[in-house]
Amino acid sequence: MARIVGAITTSHVPAIGRAIARSLQQDPYWKPFFDGFIPVRKWLKQVKPDVAIVLYNDHGLNFFLDKMPTFAVGAAAQYHNADEGWGLPTLAPFTGDQDLSWQLIETLVDEEFDITTCQEMLVDHAFTLPIELLWPGQQRHVRTVPVCINTVQFPLPSAARCFKLGQAIGRAVEAWDADERVVVIGTGGLSHQLDGKRAGFINKEFDLMFMDKLPTDPLWATRYSILDLVELAGTQGVELLMWLAARGALLGEVSTLHSNYHIPISNTASGLMLMENA
Ligand code: DHB
Ligand code: FE
Repeated sequence: MARIVGAITTSHVPAIGRAIARSLQQDPYWKPFFDGFIPVRKWLKQVKPDVAIVLYNDHGLNFFLDKMPTFAVGAAAQYHNADEGWGLPTLAPFTGDQDLSWQLIETLVDEEFDITTCQEMLVDHAFTLPIELLWPGQQRHVRTVPVCINTVQFPLPSAARCFKLGQAIGRAVEAWDADERVVVIGTGGLSHQLDGKRAGFINKEFDLMFMDKLPTDPLWATRYSILDLVELAGTQGVELLMWLAARGALLGEVSTLHSNYHIPISNTASGLMLMENA
C-alpha cells in the first residue's frame, strides 16, 4: 500500500522564480529564505518520495473568472507551465501520475467532494516554484498530481472544508494499492495582501500562531470564517487554506521536523514547514 511520508507547506511568490533564474540564493535579501529549504531538501533525499500531491491555488493561468472550480484535480500525463506575465522563464513540463490522480478523484467523489477533473491543466508559479525549490534543476524525478483550491473568486471553501479535503486525500493515498511514497505539498500564504488600501499588510503574530497550531491543533484555524481569515491574514493570505489541506492529509499524530519564517519576500510573509506522521 502507498504511504504518505510527510507534508511540506510553503509560500509561493513569483519573485522567487526570478531569483532562481538569476542565481541570487546567496544574495542578502534572499539567503534567509533559500537557506530555509536546505534541511527540507536533505530530508527529501533521505525519504525519496515517488510522487508529490501539490495543493495550490491557480492565479488565472488555468482557470479564469468565467469558470472557477472550488476544487480541481489534475489527471494528465504531463502538466505544462506557461507565461503568466511575471517575466519568469517557462519551465519544462512536469510528469503526472494518472494512477494516483484517478485514485484521488474516485475517492473524493465517493466521499461527496464535487471536484472538477482536469485531463489538461496548465500549472502556474504556485505549483512550479515550490517544486523548483524542493527539487532544484536536474534533480526533479518526482511525479506530480496538482490539486487546486479556489482562493481567487468568492465564495471560497471554508477552512474546515479544506481540512476535510486533505483528510480525504490522506485516506485516498492510504487506500492506493501501489508501493509508492507520497509527499503532500501545500503552497500559499502566509499573510499578504496585494491590492487595495491594505496592500502590503502582514500579520506576523497571526502567522506564527497559525504555524504553531498547525501540527498538533489544526482545527484551531477552522474557528475562523473566510472573512475572518481575510481580515487576519490579508486577501491573498487566505492561501493558507492549502496548508490546512496538506496538514489534513497526515492522518496520525504529527511532529514538526523543520520550520522557517521570514518577512517579507516581495509582499508576502514567507513560511515553510516540514511535518511527518510521528
Ligand atoms: C505575491 C504573492 C503571491 O502569493 C502571488 O501569488 C503573487 C505575488 C507577492 O508577494 O508579490
Ligand atoms: Fe499566490
